[in-house]
Amino acid sequence: MSVGSNIDLAALEADPDPILAELRRDEPVSYVDALDMWLVTRWDDVAAMEADYDTFTSATEPSFLARALGANMLTCDPPQHSRLSSIMKPPFLSSGRSGPFVADELGPFADSILDEVDADGFDVMTAYAQPLSAGALAMVLGLDHHGLDTMWRWCEGLCADIANFENDPSLTAQANAVKAELGAAIEERIAAANNADNSAIARFVQGGATPVEIVNNVRLMISGGINEPRDGIGLVTWVLLTQPELRERVEAEPTKLRRLIEEVFRVYSPVGTATRQTTRDVQLSGVTIPKGAIVAGVLRSINLDETRWSNPTTIDLDRREGGHAAFALGAHRCLGEWLGRQEVKVGVERLFARFPNLRLDDAVDPVQLHGFEFRGPTAVRVRTS
Ligand code: HEM
Repeated sequence: MSVGSNIDLAALEADPDPILAELRRDEPVSYVDALDMWLVTRWDDVAAMEADYDTFTSATEPSFLARALGANMLTCDPPQHSRLSSIMKPPFLSSGRSGPFVADELGPFADSILDEVDADGFDVMTAYAQPLSAGALAMVLGLDHHGLDTMWRWCEGLCADIANFENDPSLTAQANAVKAELGAAIEERIAAANNADNSAIARFVQGGATPVEIVNNVRLMISGGINEPRDGIGLVTWVLLTQPELRERVEAEPTKLRRLIEEVFRVYSPVGTATRQTTRDVQLSGVTIPKGAIVAGVLRSINLDETRWSNPTTIDLDRREGGHAAFALGAHRCLGEWLGRQEVKVGVERLFARFPNLRLDDAVDPVQLHGFEFRGPTAVRVRTS
């Protein structure tokens, strides 16, 4: 019996790493019955997939992403994708709106959220990382006048439908209401944009994107650009609080925080897969995948591939083994990676600066990570003294 036919979804969500290690070793290109898709788990095979968008298209049929958000840059291939990406990426780079935002606004914004937490003890995820990530994206996009709670509600509503694999009509109805409300908010912002406006949405208008392109892709940004920095902040905080030697090293050499963040992204990969569809029969590692198959390149797995990394599960601040794949590798490599990394860095710096004695709350259960496609801590309860 194949490894893939034995994989249980609940086990994959609870702890994917042992299952992925078995796949890497014994069945690196595996049809997984429970997912009705192929999982590709070795670095070289996923790199080959990511380089060949003619064979591994992002325009999958059906597409949960297109259903939930409308057609967007993650549901198309170059050259259509290249046009959208070239219009929409600049505001998320240091040379665009994100640069001055990170330099001048992000730190004080993080401090203002910390002013509100319960100084005795709080959950880093819900009380800090989540509003920080939602607010940062809202400010860069130019949607901050709607408030953090609304931004988070939009994100949750969209994500519920993206993950609605059972086609639950109530989730689709909930997401449709959010989609419409958010669509109206973006259209209003498009109408208000002028040449003096530096917000990302105004830049998309100035770059020539159509209103539908802007609405659908801003939905994509909201569905993907909040959970991931949130999970990154939670993961880095948890690692610092559970691995004292790393905390001591970062306190002694603050520039090592950047390396720590990269290693945490590599070892814990908040985004599990990059999912594509084959446009022809194709061979990977000697296995033929038929035309029309849905194929997930498992980023979490290749970030721990023993043939690429020495001691892959160890967070090594002196590692010099090249870039990881937590932001993907190919044409769809994360558009928000510069901003996302800064959110995690500034977020963690401000948290530990405010509460130098921060520690995990040992009166509650140990931190649990959950999820396969999206993985992060369910809660990180801390005490401040
Ligand atoms: C910091 C943590 C983040 C991680 C780990 C992450 C990870 C990823 C990954 C793995 C992909 C590729 C998905 C695929 O190929 O199927 C991606 C794409 C994308 N991400 Fe991120 N992301 C993060 C932050 C952000 C932020 C802050 C934004 C805000 C705009 C964002 C927006 C996007 C968009 C729009 C795409 C699609 C890019 C394209 O299709 O060209 N992400 N991200």
